[in-house]
Amino acid sequence: MKILRLVTSFRGKDSISFQLGNAIVEKIRLSYPELDMTVMNLAKNELPHLNEVHFSSFITPSDNPALREALYHSDNAIKELMSADIVVIDVPMYNFSIPSSLKAWIDHVVRAGITFRYTENGVEGLVKNKKVFLAISSGGVYSEGPMKEFDFTEKYLRNILGFIGINDITTFRVEGSAIPGLQDNALSKGLQSVATYSL
Ligand SMILES: Cc1cc2nc3c(=O)[nH]c(=O)nc-3n(C[C@H](O)[C@H](O)[C@H](O)COP(=O)(O)O)c2cc1C
Repeated sequence: MKILRLVTSFRGKDSISFQLGNAIVEKIRLSYPELDMTVMNLAKNELPHLNEVHFSSFITPSDNPALREALYHSDNAIKELMSADIVVIDVPMYNFSIPSSLKAWIDHVVRAGITFRYTENGVEGLVKNKKVFLAISSGGVYSEGPMKEFDFTEKYLRNILGFIGINDITTFRVEGSAIPGLQDNALSKGLQSVATYSL
């Protein structure tokens, strides 16, 4: 069982999404003790923002050294994704959405002809047979209540991952970590939801 773990909070070990992601990995390990895990810390080792050269390298196969170098980030990120059975993504909510480091990963991974293609019947995702766990942390509460419509984190990730063929997605949350009355139990509640989940 091969796991790809994407770490996206810049808060290191204090990060709540990281702690939630750890709990998910340990839960998976109970069922698959021989886990083979690759960690991409996108907060520490950021992929570059997609630029003109990167995009040219996507659409124009070339031996040009600059284009080949530009393609490396995308090829490597896609290789890691394709070879994983399970992907665990730690996601702190930033401004109702995802960290830009995770958006940069998405921009390098969503590639026409490689991870999706256009067909006469519409778009076909080419990333098959993956299970994704999202470990989302937020200061407010977005799974229910008045802020639900502001949650562009889970909604966006489900849609963009679905676009490339990944539809088996389970979300765990630690939410309300900034809200008096909720913050004290927010992490333990999130960790408990992982503990009681049946894999
Ligand atoms: C730049 C930034 C933007 C944030 N935006 C939001 C937000 O829109 N909504 C929210 O509920 N919390 C927001 N927060 C709070 C974080 O989502 C929350 O503290 C989360 O637990 C951080 O995850 P981490 O501990 O894994 O880094 C923001 C935090 C930062 C640093």
